[in-house]
Amino acid sequence: MAQQDDVFKKIVSHAKEYGFVFPSSEIYDGLSAVYDYGQNGVELKNNIKRYWWDAMTLLHENIVGIDSAIFMHPTIWKASGHVDAFNDPLIDNRDSKKRYRADVLIEEQIAKIDDKIAKEVAKAAKRFGDSFDEAQFRATNARVLEHQAHRDALHQRFSDAMNANNLDELRQIIIDEEIVCPISGTKNWTEVRQFNLMFKTEMGSTADGSMTVYLRPETAQGIFVNYLNVQKTGRMRIPFGIAQIGKAFRNEIVARQFIFRMREFEQMEMQFFVRPGEELRWFNQWKEWRLKWHKALGLGNEKYRYHDHEKLAHYANAATDIEFRMPFGFKEVEGIHSRTNFDLSQHEKYSGKKIQYFDPELNESYVPYVIETSIGVDRMFLSVLCSSYEEEQLPGGDTRVVLHLPAPLAPVKCAVLPLVRKDGLPEKAREIVDELKFDFATHYEEKDAIGKRYRRQDAIGTPFCITVDHQTLEDNTVTLRERDSMEQTRVNIADLHALIHDRVSLASLLRKLR
Ligand code: GAP
Repeated sequence: MAQQDDVFKKIVSHAKEYGFVFPSSEIYDGLSAVYDYGQNGVELKNNIKRYWWDAMTLLHENIVGIDSAIFMHPTIWKASGHVDAFNDPLIDNRDSKKRYRADVLIEEQIAKIDDKIAKEVAKAAKRFGDSFDEAQFRATNARVLEHQAHRDALHQRFSDAMNANNLDELRQIIIDEEIVCPISGTKNWTEVRQFNLMFKTEMGSTADGSMTVYLRPETAQGIFVNYLNVQKTGRMRIPFGIAQIGKAFRNEIVARQFIFRMREFEQMEMQFFVRPGEELRWFNQWKEWRLKWHKALGLGNEKYRYHDHEKLAHYANAATDIEFRMPFGFKEVEGIHSRTNFDLSQHEKYSGKKIQYFDPELNESYVPYVIETSIGVDRMFLSVLCSSYEEEQLPGGDTRVVLHLPAPLAPVKCAVLPLVRKDGLPEKAREIVDELKFDFATHYEEKDAIGKRYRRQDAIGTPFCITVDHQTLEDNTVTLRERDSMEQTRVNIADLHALIHDRVSLASLLRKLR
């Protein structure tokens, strides 16, 4: 675990050093859980968004996009349930004055017991070697059984308390489990209170005439309230989807793990409107499609898993998360929900407008059911960054830091490097840049020795380096160096475009989704 923590720290500092992610307002000592994307980060982020957007709107002729405003009528958040129920249970430690999410403290306690079980299993596996039967060991080992019983009882008590919204019981669990504050080390806890996560502000020019508006905590409601507009103007027939990418804001109390949990973040959400009764079939279909989208990036199939929800929100009849193995464990990157007709019905009720679909095949009107896919851009960014980062040992004892980014997502696709800054090589290199830059993000670099320049490009994940040398002036060939293998081949300048395109085009990635 400590080793994983170290790797994560290195990734965070690499992200800063190479212009991917900066702490927000850094010269004023930063703003907690808010981050800025730098010159390379914004390109990687845009490429992720483009991959999602095109997969939704180009590959599905029944999905269209919108871009709704961040400010919306405040009643929308009453209708959606966010004003009354978008809360986290909070507890303070009186000694350190630190505030925690009570549910997170208990979840971490459960994870600690899981770790203890995993350690017992790993120890036994080492001791018994090939003859080790894990299932039998788990079913018979006294220590494992004891931990498991404790874990199951705790998990049950926790679920019951959360389901019943029983804040006193959450506090009692923390006391009974002897959970201490990681800062003060004491058990001097306050009561548990509910805390609404929405940011509020005032809209309007006079104090009397102003109204409280919220910064949206999800983009989805912008889609629901535009359902009728899009369905009518786009002449959409069910089943159809509306996709949107945009900022969302949550006053997260436990904000940590870098860009994993932020107060201002970005979501890519798609609401798919279906006939009542067909929602579970579509839910399963979207589960499969979304995992395929993730896996097509080639980050490693073993890094993904579904986490089906046992406890469903009152409006959902199925829900799953796609989790990704981050350096700090498997974590939710995307949520897929079958949200019934809850949201549209609520907006019907609160707005007084009929939000229905006339189904010509059934010859009847109904409020459509909805499957939602919702993925955080920043979490996706983090999963790509973490799984691409490598400190590679090279033959001869040298090391290099390389980002094995999926080539279509890389911020820079190719770097053109004159071997020396004289003899007409820079001019020749610029000619090549001037050809390639219309199709690919291309860098020109002439400073420092060529090896150093290769390392800089490796560190930002550039898939190709093109080196211009004296031979180039004679026969119009260059060296094409591939990032991952570091293999160098001599190729004709005229072939560069096709060779690069083959590897870096988004279309090649999208084709894998067919
Ligand atoms: N409309 C459904 C919805 O918003 P959610 O599970 O609360 O569902 C969806 O959020 C996704 O948004 C998550 O899977 C995660 O990737 C991302 N997300 C949520 N809160 C976040 C935060 N504070 N920082 C970064 N990403 C976040």
